[in-house]
Amino acid sequence: MIVEEEAQKRILDSIHLPGHVASLDVDTESSLMWWHKAVLYQVYLRSFADANDDGVGDIAGLISRLPYIKELGVDAVWISPWYESPMLDGGYDVRNYVDTDPLFGSLEDVQNLIDASHQLGLRVVLDFVANHCSSQHPWFQSALTSSEGSRERDWFYFKDGQGESGNEPPNDWKSIFGGPAWTRTQNLDGSPGQWYFHLFDTSQPDLNWKNEEVLIQFDEILRFWFDRGVDGCRLDAVSAIGKDDDYRDMGFAPDDLYRPDIWGPVPFFDAEGVHDVLRRWRRVAREYPTEKFLVGEVVVRDVERLARYLRRDELQSTLSFDLSKIVWSADAFRQMINTLHGACFEHHSWMTWTLSSHDEKRTVSRYSQDGPAEGVLGDVTPTGHGRARAAYLLALALPGSACIYQGEELGLWEVIDIHEDRLQDPIYFRTGKQELGRDGCRVPLPWEKEGPSLGFSARHETWLPQPQSWADVSVATQLNDASSTLHFFRAVLALRATIFNDDEWDITWEPSPTGVLVLRRGPDFRCVVNFSGEPFCISDDEEALASSSPLTDERIIGVNNGAWLRARR
Ligand code: GLC
Repeated sequence: MIVEEEAQKRILDSIHLPGHVASLDVDTESSLMWWHKAVLYQVYLRSFADANDDGVGDIAGLISRLPYIKELGVDAVWISPWYESPMLDGGYDVRNYVDTDPLFGSLEDVQNLIDASHQLGLRVVLDFVANHCSSQHPWFQSALTSSEGSRERDWFYFKDGQGESGNEPPNDWKSIFGGPAWTRTQNLDGSPGQWYFHLFDTSQPDLNWKNEEVLIQFDEILRFWFDRGVDGCRLDAVSAIGKDDDYRDMGFAPDDLYRPDIWGPVPFFDAEGVHDVLRRWRRVAREYPTEKFLVGEVVVRDVERLARYLRRDELQSTLSFDLSKIVWSADAFRQMINTLHGACFEHHSWMTWTLSSHDEKRTVSRYSQDGPAEGVLGDVTPTGHGRARAAYLLALALPGSACIYQGEELGLWEVIDIHEDRLQDPIYFRTGKQELGRDGCRVPLPWEKEGPSLGFSARHETWLPQPQSWADVSVATQLNDASSTLHFFRAVLALRATIFNDDEWDITWEPSPTGVLVLRRGPDFRCVVNFSGEPFCISDDEEALASSSPLTDERIIGVNNGAWLRARR
């Protein structure tokens, strides 16, 4: 414990640590690493399992459910932030990078989690939040009490306001969560002070990644967790850490939301400097006998920009968010997969295929409607369930790693009727209640058919309310039903672990009727997904290894369904 405290103190107190960065020979990379075909399971800690019965998920709860994750057949868990935090953005507002929030447990619990996961053969992926910290972090607090132009303020983006008394923001930049990206501070004497930049919530000031002290500090934070056995990091909002020193107005209208995926270039996102930082982190990742895995949340405007993050000395992989935004259409899926796979291929890199996350609308709900996944979603339909399973068959057939967000394996849907008094997501508030935000995909998991909060906690009241109808899709219910989505996922993941050869990285699309996708990988594997309005019949020399719903006469893939096929032997 003393060692623990010393390490924490080193990181908290000192901003003068000597940087030690190992040399990196980018040409030596060749052998297959564990992540190249791994399946990650994303745990949203607050909603996974609650062991201390306060209505919020925690680390001990996760430890108790690790066997469930193992039996699902995945290789690693990516866990949403466990750091000490005021929880104004669910833990993505970090007050202390080297301790755990008491809401989730202690540092010792985290160590137990890492060790217990390893004993089960599961790797642990940390959520690494570097673009911003919490406004309650001592770094920001000391910047607030330091003078303008001070070294402490240089850790962040402080600027004078416009107008005679500086009461207009420095420019018109927008927050991704809605509203302006600048908040004004107060001087120690109570008079209005400078403004600071926050791409997300006011409580999340952006760190200045051009400041060498910030760079050194985060190298040490990475090492702190890697030394404790964490196997890799999911890099939160990583494209945001690149910023140019160009504070011009962008011409945004007052109500505009900043959308990095569709807006043109802006000085405060995806600027060149991010790549130097990534190279630096990759060198830290390589300091360990088994290299650590860095997978980025890279939201950029096009695939050329994305590919730059996958260069051989930068990230090993990125999450494929774009796939979770497209409509249910064969062309849209084929194009998106080609584009993303191509971006990786260019750099001998790997995509981490994902259809969902704690930031996206649930897959089943998105596919229950035909239009884009934005806005309020309607009822969940059997079509939505069928399509979601079929889409997972496609995603899990692709070369690279994959990621499954908790609850997707149960076919959970977006909860759209949470009472407004219970909503928590800052997006809801910052958009003037125009956007519901992400609470609907973060509702605590149903483990049991009955009992308080369906086995999530011993308490009835959970931090977000669960729909009672989730009793019918709880883990316990689905374990007793061979045709359930849970059994489907278990079977598909077990197959995936064995049927692909390590050298099968190419995919080809075979000629097929309009609206039917036929993906070939390796000599005798095909994945068929039927987006068309007509049933699709497979050939006599093939057999189905898995399907989203049973094939009629063992040969017909229905509308909105899919299957994995293999040449008969
Ligand atoms: C990432 C996280 C999201 C969070 C945001 C700000 O996009 O996935 O949940 O709100 O970063 O940290």
